[in-house]
Amino acid sequence: MRLATKLVHGHGYFDEGTGAFIPPIYQSAMFEQPERSTGQTRLSDRGTELKYSREENPTVRALERALAAVEGAEDALAFSSGMGAISTTYLALLKQGSRILVTMEGYGTTIQLATDLEKFGVRAAKVWPSAEAFVEEVKEGDLVLVETVTNPTLRVVDVPEVAKHCREVGATLIVDNTFATPVIFKPVRAGAAMAVESLTKYIAGHNDVIGGCVAGSRGTIGDLWEWRRKLGTIMSPFEAFLVLRGLKTLEVRFERLSRTALELAEFLEDHPAVEEVLYPGLSSSPYKSIADRIFERRLYGGVLSFKVKGGRSKALEVLRRVRIIKPAPSLGGTESLLTYPVISAAKTMPEEDRLKLGITDNLLRLSVGLEDPEDLKEDLSAALA
Ligand SMILES: Cc1ncc(COP(=O)(O)O)c(C=O)c1O
Repeated sequence: MRLATKLVHGHGYFDEGTGAFIPPIYQSAMFEQPERSTGQTRLSDRGTELKYSREENPTVRALERALAAVEGAEDALAFSSGMGAISTTYLALLKQGSRILVTMEGYGTTIQLATDLEKFGVRAAKVWPSAEAFVEEVKEGDLVLVETVTNPTLRVVDVPEVAKHCREVGATLIVDNTFATPVIFKPVRAGAAMAVESLTKYIAGHNDVIGGCVAGSRGTIGDLWEWRRKLGTIMSPFEAFLVLRGLKTLEVRFERLSRTALELAEFLEDHPAVEEVLYPGLSSSPYKSIADRIFERRLYGGVLSFKVKGGRSKALEVLRRVRIIKPAPSLGGTESLLTYPVISAAKTMPEEDRLKLGITDNLLRLSVGLEDPEDLKEDLSAALA
């Protein structure tokens, strides 16, 4: 099956009894165990006991089958949030004395949590967002967490190059693929041990669910399953139902969002009140060549950033004056959202790192939604005027 078909049918659910082929919401905390008629242990299709929804739930499991198919991985696990996926993975893989390397321009909470684990004897280091920097830094035994596209300056990292180096030296690579999605990039296929996605963003896609997932080999996911069980970070069945619904339209939404983002990036590049636009799809972007080499399609996502002439006060004024576009954190959903990274994505970043990365105080990040691009242009024009 090709991607669009996997998005729709990858869950593989069919109920022989009723003929239903849409996975229902199994809103049940527990399941009869053992089966009374046979005395047999009731198993999920993963081979684990189906008895309690903190461990395993059939709706969540249907989503996990779909996610594994879409990521091109042997198996996947769904979590209560992207951070649920990341924290469970950290605790499963790190031990006293381990070293974890994260992207300097990574998701703030991912970096903070890595640093917080120093109290258990883990060593955390931040690496410049480029394959060259990771290749130079990564040593045997490291746990490495790279983000395919960084936030908010939208640098594209040559993940296959980092994966090759990690394999050569014996390091474990996890790729947070939230900004790229499996529509254009599949970390496990590119050689990473695991792909992490915040499902909250493009994959669920409607700004109404918080969720996360990890995809990888059967063995890796089996170990992580145990940690998820102990930590209680599984997704709930209703959320899984919503993500399964959103997943079906991921490809069409991602195509449309990418087209709108490129159109708006080009529009803003020509706007007299805008100093600079950061978007990997622009021909002026230094990251376009990496994107075109590593992404499966010429699509660059629905997020772009731009610098407003006149500094912080003008940027904040734009944030206040947009009407259709909402000032709110998050991305990849149906509604267009605008954020001021200095007080959101980069809030916890040391000022020195922030400025080195070009996260200046006139920078705004726009996540385009499914509104008509002309309405978004008019909204931005009015706010910038
Ligand atoms: C790249 C990235 N990874 C992980 C997360 C965390 O995901 P969640 O908010 O679903 O916990 C986010 C959230 O913004 C993110 O942008």
